[in-house]
Amino acid sequence: MSTPSTFSGPKGIPDYAPPSSAEFVAVRDGLTRAARLAGYGHIELPIFEDTGLFARGVGESTDVVSKEMYTFADRGGRSVTLRPEGTAGVMRAVIEHGLDRGVLPVKVTYAGPFFRYERPQAGRYRQLQQVGVEAIGIDDPALDAEVIAVADAGFRGLGLTGFRLEITSLGDDTCRPQYRELLQEFLFELDLDPETRKRAELNPLRVLDDKRPEVRALTADAPLMIDHLSETAKAHFDEVLGHLDAMNVPYVINPRMVRGLDYYTKTTFEFVHDGLGAQSGIGGGGRYDGLMAQLGGQPLSGIGFGLGVDRTILALAAEGKSAGNPARCDVFGVPLGDAAKSKLVAIAAQLRAEGISVDLAYGGRGVKGAMKAADRSGATIALVLGERDIADGTIGVKDLSTGVQHQVSLDQIVTNVGDLLADR
Ligand code: HAM
Repeated sequence: MSTPSTFSGPKGIPDYAPPSSAEFVAVRDGLTRAARLAGYGHIELPIFEDTGLFARGVGESTDVVSKEMYTFADRGGRSVTLRPEGTAGVMRAVIEHGLDRGVLPVKVTYAGPFFRYERPQAGRYRQLQQVGVEAIGIDDPALDAEVIAVADAGFRGLGLTGFRLEITSLGDDTCRPQYRELLQEFLFELDLDPETRKRAELNPLRVLDDKRPEVRALTADAPLMIDHLSETAKAHFDEVLGHLDAMNVPYVINPRMVRGLDYYTKTTFEFVHDGLGAQSGIGGGGRYDGLMAQLGGQPLSGIGFGLGVDRTILALAAEGKSAGNPARCDVFGVPLGDAAKSKLVAIAAQLRAEGISVDLAYGGRGVKGAMKAADRSGATIALVLGERDIADGTIGVKDLSTGVQHQVSLDQIVTNVGDLLADR
């Protein structure tokens, strides 16, 4: 086998390196903060799990399971899969560790990479990043509203405005089976191509999600779940909407919403951004009241969301906004000569000990190159130290936004820099 002279990253997977990684961190942490403010605790789970967990949890008939999983045998011959989503893994952990026997609801949040072998395009990646929450064990419409409001607040906290929340109810065990039959009766009367007809047999709801205009036209008058909800499912949905109104979270009802995962029941929602083209979903989630039992646990309810970090970054860019601070440090040291370098290395350590971020020009660059590096670092202040300054016991402190430089006593430098930064 020949060895390539260079390597490229795997297809369809973004790298986030400085300075753009500042945006990534700001979005991930901003969305996570919204969850923390509502009492969700961090959960850290494996990147891969038993393949059967996703097959059973997410649903064999979904594209995610049937076409998009990264599945392989480990060296012990077990079939494992890189997690395509977070909910099934959380449920597995909750059941395995008996968290569902403690205080309910179990409220957890996670952030990290998920893997789907999709056709890569703008905003659709094979390794995608999500921030998610799950609230397990209590079936209360106020909890549905809380989960949705947390997502809404997370996006707004980043400065995002051009999105809308679409919401619907997918019904429960008492009304969904009848509705499914009703929809099938309607679909079987239509002149559908064989493949779509097969889909109507396996998962009729998915036919409503068909993007082809001819199929859209045929299904325009299809019966909708929202008009056939049981009394309890309807009351639950109305209550969720009431809480959203009370929290001033705007929404539109989209009765034709179809999610890509099979576990959803009752409240189901998506956040859609119009600046993104085809991949417009910046987040989605809903209730999954049958999932725990399906995975061998107690019959407890659950609700959660997954917000797309990559797509939120693109959405912010589409609005001409930025959430991150690309500056790598507050202070940049420019030593002129070896003695100055030793001195600045020591000052840098003192400043860092005070919680001030500092970088230095290394490698004996000339003053011009070093000042350029200072500007690129995004620092607010440059510390310029030459041999003569050391003899005088002073150091140059340059404000990089105004270009104004003044000399400060070397003994005072840590306090002086601290004061300067505090004034900003
Ligand atoms: P999902 O709708 O499959 O839900 O994914 C959630 C979000 O992840 C999407 O709205 C989108 O922003 C982002 N996303 C999905 N696939 C890609 C991709 N290929 N490239 C970039 N971003 C992507 C779930 O995963 C559920 N586990 C959410 C949930 C939690 N439901 C209940 N609890």
